[in-house]
Amino acid sequence: MAPPRLLLVGAGGHGRAVLAALRDAGWPLPAGVLDDDPACPGLPGVPWLGPVDRAAALRAEGLGAAHVALGGNARRRELGEQLLGLGFDLPPVRHPTAVLAEDARLGAGSVAMPRVVLGAAATVGRHVILNTGSIVEHDCELAAACHIAPGAVLGGGVRIGEAAMVGILAGIRPGIRIGAGATIGLGAAVVADVPVGSVVGGVPARPVRQGAPPPARPPGE
Ligand SMILES: CC(C)(COP(=O)(O)OP(=O)(O)OC[C@H]1O[C@@H](n2cnc3c(N)ncnc32)[C@H](O)[C@@H]1OP(=O)(O)O)[C@@H](O)C(=O)NCCC(=O)NCCS
Repeated sequence: MAPPRLLLVGAGGHGRAVLAALRDAGWPLPAGVLDDDPACPGLPGVPWLGPVDRAAALRAEGLGAAHVALGGNARRRELGEQLLGLGFDLPPVRHPTAVLAEDARLGAGSVAMPRVVLGAAATVGRHVILNTGSIVEHDCELAAACHIAPGAVLGGGVRIGEAAMVGILAGIRPGIRIGAGATIGLGAAVVADVPVGSVVGGVPARPVRQGAPPPARPPGE
């Protein structure tokens, strides 16, 4: 079946990357892009159709398939589930250079960018980003809305919790569990399970002291 004409959500850097993957994979040019930024110029060749809350009207007008191309994991999951609830189909997007084992599964709304490798019996939930050149080995289980950043490598049987982020060039030892919402710093070597919501980095990975919070506003400002 020919790939459908998508409604994209998100006209930022990840939106441009998804558009490039769609073009390389021979999908038709998306019908338009939604983005809450009123100054949004759209994407190259793809018109801006308004803020995200236009999705329901566009569904009623007959658009049937969509992709949420936002880098933020929580927002991508929220909007992806909203679109599914509105009756949109969210077909997984696969760059032609991505190698997926025959029995690997890529969930609705997920994307496999150029040169991804997804190993035997690996399962990937909804709204997941497998970014450029990442390797997800056999039997890994990736929950919804996580992001495996460029060049990261997951050994066999790794489990990644919902909306977790594995940073650029990080490596995860086989069989490790990464908790929901955790962040793995770029370049980390993860050799032990990572608790829910924690931020780790380094070789071997240890908890990272997070950057200073933004300065408090003076009263009345
Ligand atoms: C780990 C990370 C989330 C921390 O970000 P942050 O909270 O803004 O932290 P800061 O940059 O203020 O650094 C805080 C401390 O952690 C250290 N640190 C930051 N990133 C680190 C990393 N990847 N590995 C080891 N230590 C790290 C800093 O040197 C600093 O140490 P100090 O307190 O001794 O000076 C971030 O640096 C990171 O690696 N993000 C992943 C980016 C990525 O891969 N994105 C994918 C885009 S496609």
